[in-house]
Amino acid sequence: MKILAIETSCDETAAAVVEDGTKILSNVVASSHLMHEKYGGIVPEVAAREQLKCIIPTIEEALSRPGLKGPQGRASIDAIAVTIGPGLIGSLLVGVEIAKTMAMVTGKPLIPVNHVLAHMYANPINTIEFPAISLVVSGGHTELYLMKNKKDLQWLGGTLDDAAGECFDKTARLIGFGHGSGLAIQVHAKKSTGIKLPRPLNNSTLNFSFSGLKTAVMREWAKNPDPAGIAYEVQEAITDVLAKKTKFAAETYHAKSILLSGGVAANLRLREKLPTAIAPPINLCTDNAVYIASYAYFRGTPVDWHDTIAVPDLSVEV
Ligand code: KG4
Ligand code: ZN
Repeated sequence: MKILAIETSCDETAAAVVEDGTKILSNVVASSHLMHEKYGGIVPEVAAREQLKCIIPTIEEALSRPGLKGPQGRASIDAIAVTIGPGLIGSLLVGVEIAKTMAMVTGKPLIPVNHVLAHMYANPINTIEFPAISLVVSGGHTELYLMKNKKDLQWLGGTLDDAAGECFDKTARLIGFGHGSGLAIQVHAKKSTGIKLPRPLNNSTLNFSFSGLKTAVMREWAKNPDPAGIAYEVQEAITDVLAKKTKFAAETYHAKSILLSGGVAANLRLREKLPTAIAPPINLCTDNAVYIASYAYFRGTPVDWHDTIAVPDLSVEV
């Protein structure tokens, strides 16, 4: 079964075709990330307008890959999957409306997808031993799930305030590494004695809190304006907390595997601190449409296109 997936929840416009949930036939990602740099953060209105510009060329490119063409030179697709939330309303609408239109015109099933749950399906889901503990860490979310099998998910906890990615991004901006870049923190991190940051909520609850850490970074930066040293310590603080809680959840639920996903799962220190964890290839950690298609295949349910709407605050607690 070949699924065309469309992802437009934030500032990436992505389309992919995936066969039977795992075989990537095409994967196209356009990003308006750099456009937001001059504003110091994502401007929803700008992101939505860029989505509109990029969506058709992105889908066309995803459908034009060799091997996808049917007898009449048209791509042969069995279903269409689309992110309906959570995300920015203007951005989401672009993907949802085009997916509905395609479903209406082609008569193919339309599968709505929850972006945050879908991140987990960037992992090789057919090879996982269950039960698994799954940590989803992205720019907007830090969530822990118990995965009983390919489909059966249980939300265990999440952040009470800022997401881990947000803390990486805000620190990067404060210390002069441009907009939104946990990767810049990772690249520039260098240990420096004398810089110490707290490990917030570093106990056995399965909830997280990162807003206090952000404030502590600001205070430390005023005392020690050493970008490399701050980058090192904030990365240690965030990854210490993420690793500790994930390990604790794995012990509590007797998990046979640990899964990482989301943009922050690209972080090499986090991967080092959870050496037995399974994580997607780096390019599938950050936003793309491949895992949207995989989720649709393994856990999605088609709905009538008339009933499909964008839901910016879609719940991630299942
Ligand atoms: O999953 P994602 O692409 O978008 C959301 O759904 O939010 O995640 C983006 C987040 C950003 O906060 C970005 O700074 C972070 O992932 N990120 C990283 C790394 N690469 C991306 N954080 C830490 N280390 C990295 N190497
Ligand atoms: Zn994401």
